[in-house]
Amino acid sequence: MPFVIKVMPHSPVPSAEFVAWFRSVAPYIHAFRGRTFVVAFGGEVVADGKFIELTHDLNLLSSLGVRLVLVHGARPQIERHLIRNNLDGHYHHGIRLTDSETMQCVKEAVGRVRVEIEALLSMGLANSPMANADIRVAGGNFITAQPMGVIHGVDLLYTGSVRKVDVVAIKDRLDRNEVVLLSPLGYSPTGEVFNLTLEEVATRTAIALDADKLIFLMEMEGVQDAQGNLLRELTVADARTILSEKDRLSEDVALFLPCAVLACEAGVARTHLVSRHVDGSILQELFSDIGIGSMVVESPLNTLRDATIDDVGGILQLLQPLEVEGILVRRGRERLEREIERFVVLEHDHRIIGCAALYPFFEEQAAELACLAVQINYRKQGYGDLLLKHMIAKAQEKGLNRLFVLTTRTAHWFIERGFKEMDINELPSQKKMLYNFQRRSKVFVRKF
Ligand SMILES: CC(C)(COP(=O)(O)OP(=O)(O)OC[C@H]1O[C@@H](n2cnc3c(N)ncnc32)[C@H](O)[C@@H]1OP(=O)(O)O)[C@@H](O)C(=O)NCCC(=O)NCCS
Repeated sequence: MPFVIKVMPHSPVPSAEFVAWFRSVAPYIHAFRGRTFVVAFGGEVVADGKFIELTHDLNLLSSLGVRLVLVHGARPQIERHLIRNNLDGHYHHGIRLTDSETMQCVKEAVGRVRVEIEALLSMGLANSPMANADIRVAGGNFITAQPMGVIHGVDLLYTGSVRKVDVVAIKDRLDRNEVVLLSPLGYSPTGEVFNLTLEEVATRTAIALDADKLIFLMEMEGVQDAQGNLLRELTVADARTILSEKDRLSEDVALFLPCAVLACEAGVARTHLVSRHVDGSILQELFSDIGIGSMVVESPLNTLRDATIDDVGGILQLLQPLEVEGILVRRGRERLEREIERFVVLEHDHRIIGCAALYPFFEEQAAELACLAVQINYRKQGYGDLLLKHMIAKAQEKGLNRLFVLTTRTAHWFIERGFKEMDINELPSQKKMLYNFQRRSKVFVRKF
C-alpha cells in the first residue's frame, strides 16, 4: 500500500479582523449578484502577461453572480503587426486611418489577442483560489459598425464607429451564465469589418445594456486633481471641469473620462477608472468603502434623510463600536426600533455613514442631540457639521430654541461649534432624573 502523506494546509484560526473584513464585504457580494458589469482593458494587459491575474478576479466576480461583459483592446499588438509588415500607422486628428492593408493587420492582431484571452479564461484555474470554477466565453457578431466616413476631407476607410449593439443576443448569453467577450471590431450589414476603439465599444455596450458598472483598466491610478491627489469620487460635473483643463490631462484620462461622462449621463450608474498595474485592483475598487481608483457618478452620492425602521441595522453597525468604546451610551436594537423616528441618517452610496437623533423637550423649548456619529472612514469631511446643522434646523422647525448634548469625550468638538458648558441642574427635569452620575458626562448647550 502506498505511503500517503497528507499535507494539511496551514490554516490559522480566523481572527477578529477576518470576521470584520468578511462582514464588510458581504453587503457588496449581496449587492452585486445579478448586476451587469462591463470591464474594458487594453491589449497591454495581455502583452504584459498580466491577464492571468485579472482572470482570477474576473472568475471570482462571475462566480459571485456578476454578469460580465469584457471588452479588450489590441493597440500594442496592432502596432507590432504594422512594424512587422513594414507599414506605417496613419492618424488623422488622433484617429487611426485604416486602409485595407492596415485592416489585415488589425484583424490578425485582434484575432490573436482574442484567442489568447479565450485560452486564459478557459484554463482550469488549478492552484488558484478559483480552482474548478470554469468560465464559458461567448463571442459573436454582437456589434454592428458603420464607417466613420470622410473627416475634414480624409476618408478613414475601415475605421468605424458603433452603429448598434445586439442587446438581446448579449443578454441571452449572460442569462446562460456565460462571460461575453467583445473585440474592438464591428461588422456592417454589407459584410465588411470595421476597426473600432475599445472605449467606444465598451461605453456603447454599457449604455445599451443599461449596465450597473463600466470599468476601465488604465495606466494611471485614476483621475487626479491639479495638485496630483487621486480623486476617489467625481460627479459628472466634476469630470467636465477636469476635462476642460486639457493641458494637464494624462492620455488615459483624456481617453476614458469622456466615456465615463457619456455612460453616466446615459444611465450607467457608475464608471470606475482603475490602475491595471495593481494586482486585484478591480476587487479593491469594488469591495471596499473608498476603493482604489476613481469612480464617476451622475450626481452626488450623499443623502441626509429621516431614518426608517429599515435603517436600524445600519445605525446599529455604526453605533456599536462607539458604544463598546464607551463614547456613546449603549442602546439596544429594541430601543432603537422604538425611537427610530427621532433619527436622521446620512447615506453615502446607499450605505449609512452617519446618524444623529433629536429628543425634544417642548416644555423647556429645548432638544437633546444624541447619537451623533460619523463612520470612521468618512470623518473630517464636514459630515459631523452637516448633521449638527440639520438637527439645529429640525429643532428650530419645532419651535425650540436650544440644543443640548451630553458627552464624555467630544467636548471640544461642540465648544468649537458654539456650545457652552451648562450645569446638570439646568437640564429639563425629565432628563435630569435620568442623568447617569457614574458616566459623568458633561453637558453643553447651544442657544439659537
Ligand atoms: C464627532 C464626530 C461626529 C465628528 O464627525 P466629523 O464628520 O469628523 O466632523 P467634521 O468633519 O465636521 O469635523 C472634524 C473636525 O472635528 C475634530 N474632532 C473630531 N473629534 C473630536 C473630538 N473628540 N474633540 C475635538 N475635536 C474633534 C477633528 O479633528 C476635525 O478637526 P480638524 O480637521 O481641524 O482636525 C465624529 O468624530 C464621531 O463620530 N465621533 C464619535 C462619536 C461622538 O463622539 N459623538 C458625539 C457625542 S454625541
